[in-house]
Amino acid sequence: MIKRNSYIKFLAVVLLGISFQLVGKPVSALQDRPIDFNRDIRPIVSDKCFSCHGPDDKQRKARLRFDTREGLFSKSGVIVPGDSSKSRLFQRITARDKDQLMPPPDSGYALTANEIELFRKWLDLCDAVGVFLQDGAREA
Ligand code: HEC
Repeated sequence: MIKRNSYIKFLAVVLLGISFQLVGKPVSALQDRPIDFNRDIRPIVSDKCFSCHGPDDKQRKARLRFDTREGLFSKSGVIVPGDSSKSRLFQRITARDKDQLMPPPDSGYALTANEIELFRKWLDLCDAVGVFLQDGAREA
């Protein structure tokens, strides 16, 4: 039995549940919302990093691209799987030194505190082969 006033909530959960099942994830993963690269991180890097680290090889800086999984993992130390604090990516987006900070302040791009937190969670949960943990357990 579903209470009337919780019907919308129920619908939202069902819809979310369906979308999770589409990607083969259990509905229980909803409890502690997992960070998914494509859903949570890609839109941020697409907005704020791709102009210099994206698909356009003429504009690409530091031979670093974030639009492909290979690109993300191509330079050792940029992402240290499972450890945001050791990942140069995280060090650069939290740098106090303006010459180190990414995106460069003079580019006009900036990350919000919430976006930085998403990066932290995601980096802390990704594993060495770029298979990202969805709900606290390593994927087979
Ligand atoms: C306006 C251009 C521009 C934008 C936008 C930009 N970067 Fe960069 N990035 C650079 C340049 C230029 C370098 C190389 C010089 C340096 O290391 O500071 C660089 C270097 C880096 C490095 C160091 C790579 C290494 O090998 O250590 C990381 C990590 C990085 N960027 C991450 C990011 C992230 C994450 C974003 C988006 C949140 C971003 N950048 C947005 C221009 C940009």
